[in-house]
Amino acid sequence: MTHVTKDILYIGVNDHDLDLFEGQYIVPLGMAYNSYIILDDKIAVMDTVDRHFGSQWLANLEASLSGRTPDYLVVQHMEPDHSANISLFMQKYPAAVIVASSKAFTMMKNFYGDEYADRRIVAAEGTELSLGTHCLKFIGAPMVHWPEVLMTYDITDKVLFSADAFGKFGALDTEDPEGWACEARRYYFGIVGKYGAQAQAVLKKAAALDIQVICPLHGPVLNENLSYYLDLYNTWTTYGVETDGVAVFYTSVYGNTEKAVHLLEEKLKEKGCPKVAVSDLARDDMAECVEDAFRYGKVVLATTTYNADIFPFMRTFLMTLTEHGWRGRKVGLIENGSWAPTAAKVMKGILENCKDTSFAETQVKILSALTDENLSQIDALADEMLK
Ligand code: FEO
Repeated sequence: MTHVTKDILYIGVNDHDLDLFEGQYIVPLGMAYNSYIILDDKIAVMDTVDRHFGSQWLANLEASLSGRTPDYLVVQHMEPDHSANISLFMQKYPAAVIVASSKAFTMMKNFYGDEYADRRIVAAEGTELSLGTHCLKFIGAPMVHWPEVLMTYDITDKVLFSADAFGKFGALDTEDPEGWACEARRYYFGIVGKYGAQAQAVLKKAAALDIQVICPLHGPVLNENLSYYLDLYNTWTTYGVETDGVAVFYTSVYGNTEKAVHLLEEKLKEKGCPKVAVSDLARDDMAECVEDAFRYGKVVLATTTYNADIFPFMRTFLMTLTEHGWRGRKVGLIENGSWAPTAAKVMKGILENCKDTSFAETQVKILSALTDENLSQIDALADEMLK
């Protein structure tokens, strides 16, 4: 339990046993499910935690109450990593009332069989809740990350409870050697990335507020240099280019496509490319690859023709990008095929509906192993990507 401000305490938990967050994301640094308590004339608890940590969370909560009982449970987001202990809380504190959006109560019934019709306050954009000294104002944040989401602004302490926004992978008792941005970016593009427009709309509302502290549902409380985090979120939610350079994603069966990729990497570096990020889609973390595709403005895709289509890891990667609203990038293509190469055509076909995406004219076409002509194509592709 730590103080966020004099009256706001952190009562969340760390998870080091989770194999995959939301059934798909590796979390080598663990995961934090954040919850907070605001102590005032009335006491508000901000969200619960994952189902495996109900007892620990209730113990944290009890320890912060000094014998009092909570008046409100604010449910900002109904995804079970935050909502799983609502029933436990409501049983333990029978006088407490839930504050949530109308959509959240519908989800509550669907998930947990109760919508607490006689123990609730339905909140929406602009609803205010006074706790005594503290006044909470709710901000609609649909699709960041689900449609029912509300964020909460504590007008008194100037604290924004931001739900999933500004969250990251990683437990809070484990130092992240890469700092905040890497796992926050992987989290954002994996989980919220498709809804950039909605996230941008919330950022615009937030810009009108005087925010001193951001309390997300995952990752650390942010209480200094907030413009750094807000600027990154502004870039991410508008699909802007964060890092100057080229990201190269490949699959390779016998090593020939991989060889082409490394030759391209060398050429790009020789020609002054500030950063070349190369990922093997069969071996590297897919979510890390997805965040890199959003991070850089220029992307090269290299794969083999496979079953008259493309290699499965590349297909998964491209489908994930299109599902997440990937756009606004320059794309170079390298294909390999021993008898009927179609990979470049298939990749282009998958990406052609991505907004504002352009393709390099030079395509590298490998017919099994590299030829001198391929070397010239790689050189020309490097020039074009750096234009
Ligand atoms: Fe952390 Fe969308 O739940």
